[in-house]
Amino acid sequence: MPTAIITGGAVRIGRVMALHLADKGFNIALHYHKSNPSAAIKEIKSYGVNCQGYACDFSNLIQAEQFIARVLADFDDVELLINSAANFIQENLEETQRGTLTDTLHLNLMSPYLLMRDYKRTINKGMVVNIIDERVRKHISTFGAYSVSKVGLQHLTELAAVEWGETVRVNGIAPGLILAPQGRAPDYLEKAARKVPTRTYGKTENLLQALDYLIENQFVNGDTLFVDGAESWQHL
Ligand SMILES: NC(=O)c1ccc[n+]([C@@H]2O[C@H](COP(=O)([O-])OP(=O)(O)OC[C@H]3O[C@@H](n4cnc5c(N)ncnc54)[C@H](OP(=O)(O)O)[C@@H]3O)[C@@H](O)[C@H]2O)c1
Repeated sequence: MPTAIITGGAVRIGRVMALHLADKGFNIALHYHKSNPSAAIKEIKSYGVNCQGYACDFSNLIQAEQFIARVLADFDDVELLINSAANFIQENLEETQRGTLTDTLHLNLMSPYLLMRDYKRTINKGMVVNIIDERVRKHISTFGAYSVSKVGLQHLTELAAVEWGETVRVNGIAPGLILAPQGRAPDYLEKAARKVPTRTYGKTENLLQALDYLIENQFVNGDTLFVDGAESWQHL
């Protein structure tokens, strides 16, 4: 059975993707940071696949550079890397603190860069999927460092697809309004959906459909699938 590496796999979107891939027969190398991954690992194993958890702080690039080697000590048939771990800090450009800037760029852009580089150097097959954000099409600076990191991640996706296409495909998924940010009111999604052209919010199932398409279609490379109801095309 092939193995998928998923960063941020213990919670929310990363966890849903890990469970979906386990259901498809992938063994799972599950990255986590501060969450307890026990429940996710137990649920993944209930699909009859192997699952191992790996704690790593991706704001620390030294830890990031050790990550792929740690996985390869346990799994020898990796075919997929999903970079989902990210922070989401609301500071506009003027408000941005130095720590926010460095942590955000390390976690959201530079660690995925290093993981992708090491995936190419050592695994050199299959696909990388970077989880981006529909915000990359907009010029809204409320989450300044975050937006810059995700624009960089999309460009990195395209560069790697061109450089590595012969052996490793590299694609992105740009979610729109799918899960409410932590701590928001229960009606956040319903209210925010009024600004989406479809007047709906997306479900994690819609992201899984995008992931399946990228896995199955071997000629899609360097693309970012926007799963956002066209929110990114409007300027409110
Ligand atoms: N939610 C949405 O609707 C939405 C919309 C657009 C884009 N996205 C993108 O989709 C992805 C998943 O979003 P989400 O909302 O499910 O994520 P989330 O709830 O914000 O979870 C963040 C993830 O990042 C990990 N993480 C945080 N700090 C870390 C660090 N220093 N080192 C390593 N890992 C760290 C967390 O691990 P622990 O929990 O183990 O600490 C967690 O798994 C993200 O890339 C996000 O930008 C989401």
